[in-house]
Amino acid sequence: MIHIAVLASGRGSNFQAIINGVKEGDINGKIEVLITDNPDAKAIERAKKNKIPFEVVERKNFKERIEMDQRIKAILDSHNIDLVVLAGYMRIIKSKELLASYKNKIINIHPSLLPSFGGNTTAQKDAFDYGCKISGLTIHFVTPDVDAGPIIYQEAVDISDCRDETEVSLKILKHENKAYRKVVADFSKGTYVIKEGRRTQFIHFPIKKH
Ligand code: GRF
Repeated sequence: MIHIAVLASGRGSNFQAIINGVKEGDINGKIEVLITDNPDAKAIERAKKNKIPFEVVERKNFKERIEMDQRIKAILDSHNIDLVVLAGYMRIIKSKELLASYKNKIINIHPSLLPSFGGNTTAQKDAFDYGCKISGLTIHFVTPDVDAGPIIYQEAVDISDCRDETEVSLKILKHENKAYRKVVADFSKGTYVIKEGRRTQFIHFPIKKH
């Protein structure tokens, strides 16, 4: 079973999907810690309800931005984390050290089919405003290039019936919740390797990690 850390800044529906996956035995892992930069995040309530330890790491408590990531790395290290799941975490990870130590172990979900509408927090609105009929979601490894790490999983979502950006967000979110749970479940049973540059492939290993 793997040790999972979730980083979230807000509502936490993707965090909840992973909690459910663990509870229902799909994910062979334990959520060791929730890390949030927002003391008012609804994700904290979800952590409390499910007896998951949480740490609030706020930007205002650090002089330099990089120190914030160093604190996050220290928390991850102390929990022996195998997989870091960014679930609506609204900050870019800047520390090269953190990214290098957890290479191919940090994943993110983005509410568009990357590389379309990447690099910002308005992907659903942008897809709607553009008049896209199809958008979707992308789960990818986190690298120093924002929303540009190797793609693990993508799913298209028909948004042609959506009347505004809120409907687009909600429709994609339902797919996100299911997809993230599935990808984390796969991770808990194996690993993703990057082949020939950016192509990722899932390798199953029946070995217990902890
Ligand atoms: C999701 O749409 C995710 O793709 C984006 O932020 C949103 C987080 O939603 N990065 P939630 O907090 O998991 O409900």
